[in-house]
Amino acid sequence: MAEITNYPSLFTLTSKTAVVTGGSRGLGLHAASGLLHAGCSTLIITSRKADGCATAVRELQALHPAARILAIPADLSKLSEVERFVKAVDEATGGKVDVLVANAGATWGAPLESHPDEGFAKVMDLNVRSVFNLVKLMVPLLERAAAERGGDERSRVVTVGSVAGIVVGGTGVNGTYGYAASKAAVMHMTKHLAIELAPRRILCNAIAPGFFPSKMANGFISKSGGVEGLGKENPTGRLGKAEDIVGCVVFLCSNAASHVNGAIIPIDGGKHLAQSRL
Ligand SMILES: NC(=O)c1ccc[n+]([C@@H]2O[C@H](COP(=O)([O-])OP(=O)(O)OC[C@H]3O[C@@H](n4cnc5c(N)ncnc54)[C@H](OP(=O)(O)O)[C@@H]3O)[C@@H](O)[C@H]2O)c1
Repeated sequence: MAEITNYPSLFTLTSKTAVVTGGSRGLGLHAASGLLHAGCSTLIITSRKADGCATAVRELQALHPAARILAIPADLSKLSEVERFVKAVDEATGGKVDVLVANAGATWGAPLESHPDEGFAKVMDLNVRSVFNLVKLMVPLLERAAAERGGDERSRVVTVGSVAGIVVGGTGVNGTYGYAASKAAVMHMTKHLAIELAPRRILCNAIAPGFFPSKMANGFISKSGGVEGLGKENPTGRLGKAEDIVGCVVFLCSNAASHVNGAIIPIDGGKHLAQSRL
């Protein structure tokens, strides 16, 4: 039997620097909280609203007094803002970032005939184009952190897709045509980035959540039977919760996942499989 001498360090992120977009609430805040629990010493969150960011920083700081937690508000749907954000991250981190969770996203639900062009463009811009621009500009910071750590260490990018990009979700009055396409696109793009960036010491993986209560999802959840009703339709009998995001994101950013690259991990209790069965 091979002796595992480094087990305790497999799942810890001690002294790492992490950036979480859309970290002010919802899944991004869950991920941010998990990264701090796992040991990250510096965390930068971003979202458009400075007050939302400030509240999240206060809450996270109260739980993790020793960590350095910053907010750099930015509207990531605009390239100029992505550029400004990355420059600010560069200055705040000495140009080294170990973990990037590209989570900020938006949705748009409307029937086919009235589905507006701007709704389609909005979700593609934020959910795909801005993720590409962000990763592209963050590569030097991610490379530098990995190079400094040496050995077999690699920095991590985790993108946030959705099971809506794997199976068909909202149609009819809640048609999420652009959103579903954007999530399929960002997950496929993650595979491309994974191949491109692994030799440059950066691993890229995606999570594909099912329904989690959040500002984005709550309207649809309440129209579809509520947390309990919709939960009962899931093979596990419930919707997603914070710990489900934390476990998966921390795993993907940890040494336990050093040979996981280009993976798409559904976090939905297997619901998408039940949905697509004959
Ligand atoms: N909840 C679910 O059931 C579910 C399922 C599958 C996938 N997801 C994905 O998970 C991610 C997070 O969703 P969520 O449910 O947590 O939604 P949420 O509660 O609406 O959070 C979205 C986050 O993104 C930020 N954001 C929105 N537009 C932005 C912009 N232009 N620039 C920068 N930040 C922006 C928001 O803050 P501001 O408003 O301050 O900008 C907020 O922090 C999304 O990518 C979503 O598609 C969610």
